[in-house]
This record gives sequence, C-alpha cells and structure tokens, in this order.
Amino acid sequence: MKSLNSKWKHSFLYFLIIHLILYLLHHKLALDNQTVRIKKSPDLPLRFRHDGTFKILQVADMHFGNGVVTRCRDVLATQFDFCSDLNTTRFLKRMIEAEKPDFIAFTGDNIFGSSSADAAESLLEAFGPAMESGLPWAAVLGNHDQESSMDREELMTFISLMDYSVSQTNPSAGNASNPGNREMITNIDGFGNYNLEVYGAPGSHLANSSILNLYFLDSGDREVVQEMRTYGWIKKSQLHWLRGVSEGFKGQKKDFSYSEEAFPSGKPPALAFFHIPIPEIRQLYHQKIVGQFQEAVACSSVNSGVLQSFVSMGDVKAVFMGHDHTNDFCGYLDGIWFCYGGGFGYHGYGRAGWSRRARIILVELEKGGKEWMRVERIKTWKRLDDQKLSKTDEQVLWNSR
Ligand SMILES: *[C@@H]1O[C@H](CO)[C@@H](O)[C@H](O)[C@H]1NC(C)=O
Ligand SMILES: *[C@@H]1O[C@H](CO)[C@@H](O)[C@H](O)[C@H]1NC(C)=O
Ligand SMILES: *[C@@H]1O[C@H](CO)[C@@H](O)[C@H](O)[C@H]1NC(C)=O
Repeated sequence: MKSLNSKWKHSFLYFLIIHLILYLLHHKLALDNQTVRIKKSPDLPLRFRHDGTFKILQVADMHFGNGVVTRCRDVLATQFDFCSDLNTTRFLKRMIEAEKPDFIAFTGDNIFGSSSADAAESLLEAFGPAMESGLPWAAVLGNHDQESSMDREELMTFISLMDYSVSQTNPSAGNASNPGNREMITNIDGFGNYNLEVYGAPGSHLANSSILNLYFLDSGDREVVQEMRTYGWIKKSQLHWLRGVSEGFKGQKKDFSYSEEAFPSGKPPALAFFHIPIPEIRQLYHQKIVGQFQEAVACSSVNSGVLQSFVSMGDVKAVFMGHDHTNDFCGYLDGIWFCYGGGFGYHGYGRAGWSRRARIILVELEKGGKEWMRVERIKTWKRLDDQKLSKTDEQVLWNSR
C-alpha cells in the first residue's frame, strides 16, 4: 500500500512538472508571437500599371534624427518654432498621397547619424510613411547614415528587412536568363548594390520580362586619398558587377519577350540611383540645365569612370543622385541625364525660404496595337513642400525614338 501511495505521489509530481513546462512554453510562445514580426513584402515583381505607366518618387537626404525633438535647419525665423523631423514625415506622407507613386527610391542620408541616438529607431521613423503606404520601396546609403549606432552593412541589412522594402545588402549572382540560380555576391565594394527589374504591363506579351531596370549603387561615405580627406566613390568592383548585369540582359535577345522589336539596342532602358554625384557633374555649371545649381558639387577627388561605364553599357538613360541639397537640377552628359533630387528633409541643411523638395520620375510605355509594349518615354518633375505641393521643372529625359 505504501509503495503504491508513493508511486501515485511521483506521478502526481510528474504530472505537475509536465504541465508547468507546457504552461511556460505556451506562455513564452504567446509572448514571442507578439515580439517576432514577419516582414511584410510587396507583390513582386515590380511591374508597370494597367495604364502603361510606372511612377517613382525619389526622396533625397531626409537627414532624419530623433523625430519630434530634432529641430529643423535653415528655415525662416518665423518657421523655426514647431518645426522638427515630423515635418519631413509629413512631407513624405503628402507626396505619397498626392502623386500615388508605384515605388519610392531613397537616395541616401536617410538618417543623419550624428543626430540619431539609435539608428534603428531613426530608420523606423524615417521610412515609416513608406512602410505604412504598403508601396515597394528601396534605399541606398549616403555618407551620413552610418554615423550613429550601426555600420553600413548593418544598416543595409536592417533596411532590407523592413516592411515592403525591396532593398538588398548585396546583389544576386546570375542574370535574367537563369533566374533560378541566384546567389549573393559578396566580393564587391560597399553595401546596397543591387538591380531591380520592372516587368511589362499585366496581360501584355512583355508581362513576364524586365523592360526597365533600376540600378542601385553604394557611393560610399568618406575616404582618405594621398592623405587628403575626400568623399567616397563607386569602385571598380561595383562597375564590373553592373556591366555584367547589363550584358546579361543583352543575352535575352533570343527570348521571344526580348525580341529585337522590343529592344533595338538589345537591352531594356535602365535608371541608376546613388548618393554622391560623380566629378563630371561640375561641368554642368557651364551648360544648359533644368533646375538650380546653387552649391559646389561635393564629389570625390577620385574619378572611377562611372560615366564612361554607363556610356559603354548603353542602357542607363538617367541617373538620380542626392548629397548636394540645394542643387536640384538635371543636366545632360554624353547622352545620359543626371538629376539631383533636391534636399527633402528638414534637419538637413538647405536654404531658408527655398522649399524642401522631391523628384518624380514617370516611365511610360508605348502602345503597339491593343497592348502595352516597351518603354517609350521617361519624364521627370519636382514638387515643393509648399501649401500646394507646387509642381516644377517638368521635362522629358528620354524618348525611345
Ligand atoms: C512644420 O509642421 C508644423 C505642424 O504641422 C507646421 O505648422 C509648420 O508650418 C511646418 N513648418 C514648415 C517649415 O513646413
Ligand atoms: C506570364 O506568366 C503567367 C504565370 O506564370 C502566365 O499565366 C502568362 O501566360 C505569362 N505571360 C506571358 C506573356 O508569357
Ligand atoms: C547568364 O546566364 C547564362 C546561363 O547560365 C550564361 O550562359 C551567361 O554567360 C550569363 N551571362 C552573364 C553575363 O553572366
């Protein structure tokens, strides 16, 4: 009898322990469900709309700090009170609402590291309106993003994991002719080099083919060259990778959807996005430009041959940069348009009385018979953060014929 009793006691204890474990496990899992979030992804691939257009909002230099406590720079004395990073957030929301873009491209200095207490917090707040919009968006880094609590690799990794972000830390290997076999390329300078393909309009015979490429490049932060401090630049390894990607699309000609008729040059047109302007932009001071040239081009002392590479690739039709906040012009160099976004963020330097601004890029398809075909035209304009979001400097950047 005694032994039976103790056996019963044992099983009772055993039963209790099992339940305690199950309870804790369940409780813990329940807690984890609240903290572990799975990234929300946009519908991919990126593609043109039913109306044959694809619209990009370029946001340059948000310079986000810590939100409401981070004051505006270079606004009129009368605007200084009640002006903070929240004005940058409000501008982004208004732009998304007014233009209803298909995609948002952030061209660096998204956060102003030296004013940011915690890089993750600043990124979450800066990109908040993009994440809330549910639109696909992508970013590259400027020279200031890493001045807070994350290095450039950590920043790009974090950005690539944010809701609806299609940013990548490193590019994928392979090309459009073998899409099944894509591995990360890591032997390349910088973080945030990648290509995004934009597919043709739904229902068209180019619906499953990239007819527009978006090239993102990391132009670095700062470097020391012969004991002189200078800005970063796009390195040979990055240009080598990009030429490979671009050549890969030429191989597509055999494919029905990449027929000669669709792309006489053998490659779909491409747009490039990076932060620091290339040295040739200085030449534009003496040429006809659309927009304003109000400050010296703060580029690197090193010319790594970006312009030459783009010219020889032949597919890049326009380039979108940031960095110099009070330059907002487009200028033409060797057959390629180079456009500044113009400063967007209120904590970034600017000009009091000269509105913060954003650039829109509209890509339109050609109609062949009843269906949408290849890219016909690339247009751009800007909007100012004034009461009416005034539209300015509309121009055509490229025409297929
Ligand atoms: C910043 O936002 C506040 C609140 O919405 C507004 O009153 C103020 O005019 C804005 N400042 C600027 C410079 O846009
Ligand atoms: C594109 O892919 C979809 C789904 O795989 C298919 O149903 C459609 O026929 C394809 N369209 C063309 C033009 O290849
Ligand atoms: C693209 O992929 C095909 C198939 O694997 C390969 O033969 C070709 O060399 C690749 N092109 C480039 C530029 O990497």
